[in-house]
Parts: sequence; C-alpha cells; structure tokens
Amino acid sequence: MNILVINGPNLNLLGLREPEIYGKQDYRALCDKITAHAEKRGVGVDIYQSNHEGDLVDRIQDAYDKADGIVINPAAYTHTSVALLDALKAVGIPTVEVHISDVSKREDFRQISFVRKACIATIMGHGTDGYIEAMDLLIEREKQCK
Ligand code: DQA
Repeated sequence: MNILVINGPNLNLLGLREPEIYGKQDYRALCDKITAHAEKRGVGVDIYQSNHEGDLVDRIQDAYDKADGIVINPAAYTHTSVALLDALKAVGIPTVEVHISDVSKREDFRQISFVRKACIATIMGHGTDGYIEAMDLLIEREKQCK
C-alpha cells in the first residue's frame, strides 16, 4: 500500500508558526514521525508540502493510479479551494482530511471545508498524532476492502 501525505501552505513553518495553536514540533519532526509510522506499519509513504494551490492540485493528479490513500491537511486552502475538492474527486482515491488544531472551535471562516465532501473522514484537534490516526484509518480500510 502507498499513502500520499499532502500538506498545504505554512505547514512548512510548524514549530515557528503560532506554537500555542500548532505545537512546538517542526515540519521535519512531523515528516520523521510519518515516515517512522509507515515503516512500522509496512506501507510506503510519500510526503509533499507546497504553499501553492496549483502545485497541490498537480500532486493530487499525479497520485492517480499510484497512491492507495491520501492524507491531506490543506491548511488555509481547506476553507477556500474548490480546485482541491475537484482534484480529489477526480482521482477518487480514499482521502482523510487532517487538521492539527480543532478548527470547529476557531473562527467562523474556518468552519467551511470544501475538501471534506471528497473525504472519508476528518481528524482535527489531535495535534500531529492526527496524521498517524489518518494513516491507520486508511490502512485498516484497505485491509477490509481486500
Ligand atoms: C490547519 C487549520 C487551518 O484553518 C489553518 O489555515 C492552517 C492549519 C490545522 O492544521 O489546524 O494552516 O489546517
């Protein structure tokens, strides 16, 4: 099984960026955590981050016929991007939406998620453990589908 983990804008600044909301762990530490978990579970993983909406769309399109599951934290594009929703719908790969913070308890403009309509689950407010939970969810689902 191959999982693609996609991170949107400003997540490369984890650790530096509003640590009281997003924690003190930096982006490298997040990538190491994801890679270690993939090894433990015996799955392949690709990790991608971009600050640019079109690049994120391109990466989702590239995953067609290659990835068996996507974990996506679209960051600010969660709340604005029909393009990401359409890309996820187009490739039809089981996708889990992740947010480090609990967006449901934050500003009104964070209450809309466009990508959610293309996702099998949303995990929010569990810090970076949410990425691990999302990977496990996709792995268990894949096992059940076989
Ligand atoms: C975020 C929440 C978004 O509202 C915000 O724009 C982010 C990060 C999260 O992981 O909690 O950049 O997706």
